[in-house]
Amino acid sequence: MIENSKLTVIGAGAVGSSVAYAALIRGAARHVALYDIDAAKTEAEVLDLAHGTLFTPGSDIVGGADISVAEGSHVVVITAGAKQKPGQTRIELAATNARIVRDIMQRTLEVAPDAIFVIVSNPCDVLTMLAHEGSGLPAERVFASGTLLDSSRLRWELSRRAGVAASAVHAQIVGEHGDTEFPLWSAARINAVPILDWAGPDGAPLFTREELDRIAVDVRDAAYTVIQGKGATNYAIGLSSVRIVEAILGDESAVLNVAPVLSDFHGIDGVALSVPCLVDSAGARPIRETPFDDGELERLRASAAALEKVAAGLRD
Ligand code: LAC
Repeated sequence: MIENSKLTVIGAGAVGSSVAYAALIRGAARHVALYDIDAAKTEAEVLDLAHGTLFTPGSDIVGGADISVAEGSHVVVITAGAKQKPGQTRIELAATNARIVRDIMQRTLEVAPDAIFVIVSNPCDVLTMLAHEGSGLPAERVFASGTLLDSSRLRWELSRRAGVAASAVHAQIVGEHGDTEFPLWSAARINAVPILDWAGPDGAPLFTREELDRIAVDVRDAAYTVIQGKGATNYAIGLSSVRIVEAILGDESAVLNVAPVLSDFHGIDGVALSVPCLVDSAGARPIRETPFDDGELERLRASAAALEKVAAGLRD
């Protein structure tokens, strides 16, 4: 564990405040800072969070509208930017949020030159590509929260259907955090049992291919469903982002599906996509040996091509 660890969360909206809240509750960092251009809102969020710290494991929280609050951070989680309106895709936010994230990365790096950056603002993969190019940081030090959350959604869906704890469900979503994402079904297991062999109460296999395809669509569209009902997603992204922060600050070598810019990953270069990565105090490094079957490789390449196209439009 890094001593006197410091996390800064950029953006005090629904997602940023939930990241800060989850970090305090889990004691993820010794010091937590919250930054947003809206001083009044940020100060109010910080006060509200600070008032609860008697009941958390011992972090402090500060914040405001001056970027100096991020000084000396080990990890910076960026949540600033426009959010999806009901029915809107993440990609539709790209132009607006690219400007915001580029600017904030530059200013944050001046006060936290050694930080690892986790990009949560959407479209997180595309923004990671631009942040990586703009900052000159090594790929392992700037990556998107990506499909860690989608993988959690998938494991929850499978676990409740199978009646097995989510921790025993080994399944994951890879690719874009968005419409071209997909599950790596070829490697999916419940404990050691391949997912299609898992039996229901009658002894027959519980999942069919069609059922798995339906689950994948539900997981892909989960954020749309939540946004339709409450205008934003915040709790699960807060928790999953803090899981990444813990892996970095605890130097865990945890395996998490996050999205650094890939180089020579099954032939993919220069695109940020979620794949299983080792996450420790140096950042995130893809596990190149991860097997993909032919269909999965085709989908990974399609996801890369879709993101590359959006990023190219923003570079002009
Ligand atoms: C979601 C947002 C964070 O998937 O993109 O909930």
